[in-house]
Amino acid sequence: MQDRSDHYRRRMEDLGKRLIAAEERRRLAQIEADRTSKILGLMRRAHDIADSASDTKAFSLQYLAQLCGLMLTDGAAILMADPDGGGVHGLHEFGAATPVDRLPVSGKLPDFDYLNDCNAGSEIVAALAAHLGQRHLAWSWNTADRIGLVLIRQPFNAAQLPFSPADREVMQSALSIYSEALKRRLARDALVAAKRAAEKANRAKSEFLSTMSHELRTPLNAINGFSQMMQREVFGPLGNPHYLDYARFIHESGEHLLSLINDVLDMSRIEAGRMPLHEEALCLSTTIGTTVQLMRDQAKDHGLVLMAGLPADLPALWADRRAMKQMMINLLSNAIKFTPRGGEIQVAAEREAGGGLILSVADTGIGIPEEDQAVVLEPFRQGRSSALAGESGTGLGLSLVKALIEMHDGRLTLTSRPGEGTTVNLYFPESRLCPTDRTETGTG
Ligand SMILES: Nc1ncnc2c1ncn2[C@@H]1O[C@H](COP(=O)(O)OP(=O)(O)OP(=O)(O)O)[C@@H](O)[C@H]1O
Ligand SMILES: [Mg+2]
Repeated sequence: MQDRSDHYRRRMEDLGKRLIAAEERRRLAQIEADRTSKILGLMRRAHDIADSASDTKAFSLQYLAQLCGLMLTDGAAILMADPDGGGVHGLHEFGAATPVDRLPVSGKLPDFDYLNDCNAGSEIVAALAAHLGQRHLAWSWNTADRIGLVLIRQPFNAAQLPFSPADREVMQSALSIYSEALKRRLARDALVAAKRAAEKANRAKSEFLSTMSHELRTPLNAINGFSQMMQREVFGPLGNPHYLDYARFIHESGEHLLSLINDVLDMSRIEAGRMPLHEEALCLSTTIGTTVQLMRDQAKDHGLVLMAGLPADLPALWADRRAMKQMMINLLSNAIKFTPRGGEIQVAAEREAGGGLILSVADTGIGIPEEDQAVVLEPFRQGRSSALAGESGTGLGLSLVKALIEMHDGRLTLTSRPGEGTTVNLYFPESRLCPTDRTETGTG
């Protein structure tokens, strides 16, 4: 009888132990799940807050508020090491954490520690608790980033939820997440600031160029005007024929300089967004026809044939007349400059499958090596073909055409083969083509 009751008692005890162990495992699993969900929740929120907060201080305070809600604490603070390493001070404080003035540090800071009624905590944690007038706090330190996190629970709260070693993982994760989100935000802010500075510098450059060009044009007009009068001997003969040559040379150089200054002025105006377009419905065959006519003599002088093949039924183009002419002149003067004698230049226009219109200038010249084709579209950049042809220039012609066609919602494409020739296409979208009744009939 006695044996049997002993047996049952042992079995009951055994069962009891197993139940207690199972309950402990369940409790630990619950803590783990709870911890994981807290960390994941923090991660998700941290990046959202970092993106939306107005600045890093607002981000830090919102993050600490989030953390307090999640950890059921009454206050939180981010601490930072002093530059000399001799102490720590508060960077951002939230809730019950009052500003943390400098606290001296001796020795290595613990990566995690806590203080409550039954745990005295390390030197720094005890000093911090005394400084803040709090008796329940947890501490975490990130040695690499030299920042720390402090959580505070006030007594009525701490009585139910004392800090414990189980808080280590969440606190350390919370600190790493904060540090990563902060770094991302700082990098984004730095990028925005750099972009603003670059835009400001670019605006300043454009304004400087624009003012300079404008100032230079006034005296240059006088030089050009008077040298032309001298060349024509308007008020009587110059005497020595050398003077006549000099006057011609002064006039030619002045005209060259003026066209260069005008290009710089146009480019800086476009870059500063201050080039107004005077748009109207242009008859393409007239506008292009007059420009081609203008350049024909120049082409002939270079031993080149310049042809224009424009269909009769082209729609009118909603565009700026001066810009259209300038684009054509720049493209044609390049074609003339970079095509050896005996070559051909063809100007064409055609409707494009997408509904738009393509205007092209093709030559049989020296071409542009593939590696130069992107470079030559940038302002002040010249390709190797320029040196090859022994031609001088500023490197503004093509970039001006590119900027002007883009102002017309279009785009420029360039195809070229060294030794075979170059074709530049200007694409105008359908929205730029006018119904026939808007066509102007001017002389272009
Ligand atoms: N039709 C072409 N054939 C061969 N190379 C060309 C042609 N058009 C342009 N290039 C190359 O592209 C470069 C840039 O052309 P861009 O018109 O911008 O400058 P540029 O003609 O040298 O000077 P600018 O037009 O300012 O007087 C030229 O220097 C040349 O190397
Ligand atoms: Mg040019």
